[in-house]
Amino acid sequence: MDIQLIPFNFITFLLFISFVSLLAKGWRRPKHQRLPPSPWKLPLIGHLHHLVGALPHHTLRNLAKKYGPIMHLKLGEVSTIVMSSRQIAKSVLTTHDLACADRQESIGMKTLWYDYTDIAFSPYNDYWRQMRKHKDKHATAKRGNGELGGEDIVDVLLRLQQSEKLDVPITNDNIKAIIFDMFTGGTETSSTLMDWTMAELMRNPHVMAKAQAEIRQAFKGKTTIEESDVDKLKYLKLVIKESMRMHPVIPLLPRACREEFEVGGYIIPMKAKVTVNIWALGRDPEYWDEPESFKPERFENSSVDFLGNNFEYIPFGSGRRICPGMNFAMANTEYPLAQLLYHFNWKLPKGMNPNNMDMIELMGISGMRKNNLYLTATPYHPLVDG
Ligand code: HEM
Repeated sequence: MDIQLIPFNFITFLLFISFVSLLAKGWRRPKHQRLPPSPWKLPLIGHLHHLVGALPHHTLRNLAKKYGPIMHLKLGEVSTIVMSSRQIAKSVLTTHDLACADRQESIGMKTLWYDYTDIAFSPYNDYWRQMRKHKDKHATAKRGNGELGGEDIVDVLLRLQQSEKLDVPITNDNIKAIIFDMFTGGTETSSTLMDWTMAELMRNPHVMAKAQAEIRQAFKGKTTIEESDVDKLKYLKLVIKESMRMHPVIPLLPRACREEFEVGGYIIPMKAKVTVNIWALGRDPEYWDEPESFKPERFENSSVDFLGNNFEYIPFGSGRRICPGMNFAMANTEYPLAQLLYHFNWKLPKGMNPNNMDMIELMGISGMRKNNLYLTATPYHPLVDG
């Protein structure tokens, strides 16, 4: 008798356990149901089919018009949360900045960037905090020309490596990863921005004329321009600002969630990819007058800047992981542009006019122009032509 009771009790026990776990799942469900709204999805691939064939930031803007400023997309197994309004972007990048301070993972990036021991792709941890602190210190010193200002970032890192005050030791691979950051972060971003700016200047000849007049007035008679002269060029700065509004080099902010949080009444699950559609914010008619027109004057007498406080305009991101190369990027773009506009007059190739220039972006997640920009340059001689 006793022997028969044992299996019976065991089965009852198993049933009881499954009942309790079902109940627990049931209790959790309401929270789960508070995931942000989603479009229709397919088994296995989830929402991937929505992103096929068009540029992701364009598709995501169109979906957001339908599903709202916080959306949940399942791209394969991974949850991606897309934020598309100023209010939500502000809340996510201020109140919840720490919760979404991780970067999105990919095997390619992990290999290229020495197991994420750079700054840009590192998860948010003690190593990132230490390296970022030194990078910011170096950037500030360079600006102010203070201690470290004359030093190369490589010298700084090598010296830091020998220091005994380090919280996390630095290896040679870490240094290589950070140098790689500087190369990748510092070259293609600035050249993409220059490319878009020149294209917009060609499409808007009155803006080109105004920018060239400012430069040629400021440097009247000079045969070369020094880097420090560029600060005078107020209109050129507005032109570059406007170019970054319409063509952010990183259209989708790449963050990931390191702890579950709630925003706009929805749950953002741990490990989800979190992205802010920077491109869509910059062209939202709710925040911008004639958003599809290139008008640098809109930034004149406006307090909107790219320092990460105006959430309709965050080409460099915001919060803890805001771009540390911001000033370098601006200098890297202003100076060569000033030289191109000072020393040359520019024309479109024969048969092309400003109204039929294409402004198509490269397929994928980069913010680059798809087609090469071909222009004819005629030298301008300040002493003769000016
Ligand atoms: C037009 C030029 C550039 C643009 C539009 C740009 C934009 C951005 C954006 C949107 C982020 C992500 C910020 C966030 O998550 O909140 C970022 C991060 C970063 N950028 Fe830039 N960037 C530019 C140039 C540069 C340059 C010149 C450098 C270095 C010399 C650089 C180095 C970095 C690094 C290291 C990070 C990662 C910061 C971190 O994760 O803590 N960037 N950049």
